[in-house]
Amino acid sequence: MKLFIDTGNIKEIEALVPLGIIDGITTNPSLLAKEPGDYKENLKRICQLVKGPTSAEVVSKDFEGMMREGRDLSKIDDHIIVKVPFTKEGVRACKALSSEGIRVNVTLVFSPTQALLAAKVGATYVSPFVGRLDDIATSGMGLISEIVEIYENYQFTTQILVASVRHSIHIVEAARMGAHICTCPAAVIEGMFRHPLTDIGLEKFLKDWEKAQAARV
Ligand code: E4P
Repeated sequence: MKLFIDTGNIKEIEALVPLGIIDGITTNPSLLAKEPGDYKENLKRICQLVKGPTSAEVVSKDFEGMMREGRDLSKIDDHIIVKVPFTKEGVRACKALSSEGIRVNVTLVFSPTQALLAAKVGATYVSPFVGRLDDIATSGMGLISEIVEIYENYQFTTQILVASVRHSIHIVEAARMGAHICTCPAAVIEGMFRHPLTDIGLEKFLKDWEKAQAARV
């Protein structure tokens, strides 16, 4: 399963990319709005750092605006994936942009029927938001399981990009279901590293080693 960072923050990306575990980045207007500087320059820098798929979202609500923005964003770097919201205009733009060879991530997906339509119009990625569904007492991971089943039934090539990830259990469940990608905030990725038994074990190994070395002198 691929792992993306859900961030527009260059420092977070610089800290995690050297570990070799990051395959791509997702941004959204809320994330990019928090960062200083020109968003296009920031997106370019992010693409250079991660050298992998980097989602950048359109903010237009109409088809023509989405097409204009999508074409414009795709020129920033070859790694840019144009993100469109799941609306009728977004679905239409996904079909049109995809037919021009521009890869599209259909975002704000909250139901299996939305995911089915995104696949039908050739989305490269579909982004179901699991955390926001959990927030309203609906199973986010239940949605992922339904999408996996539907896509497998018809051999859709659209990749399931599990979004709005809040904790490691989302990641484990997504991997067990065979989702293609999880996009996670940096803090959630940091959490994947932590285990108290690793810390305790390492401390003991090093203490034992030091004791043995001291006994030899
Ligand atoms: C996905 O691409 C979105 O940027 C993101 O995962 C939304 O997550 P949130 O619900 O934590 O804002």
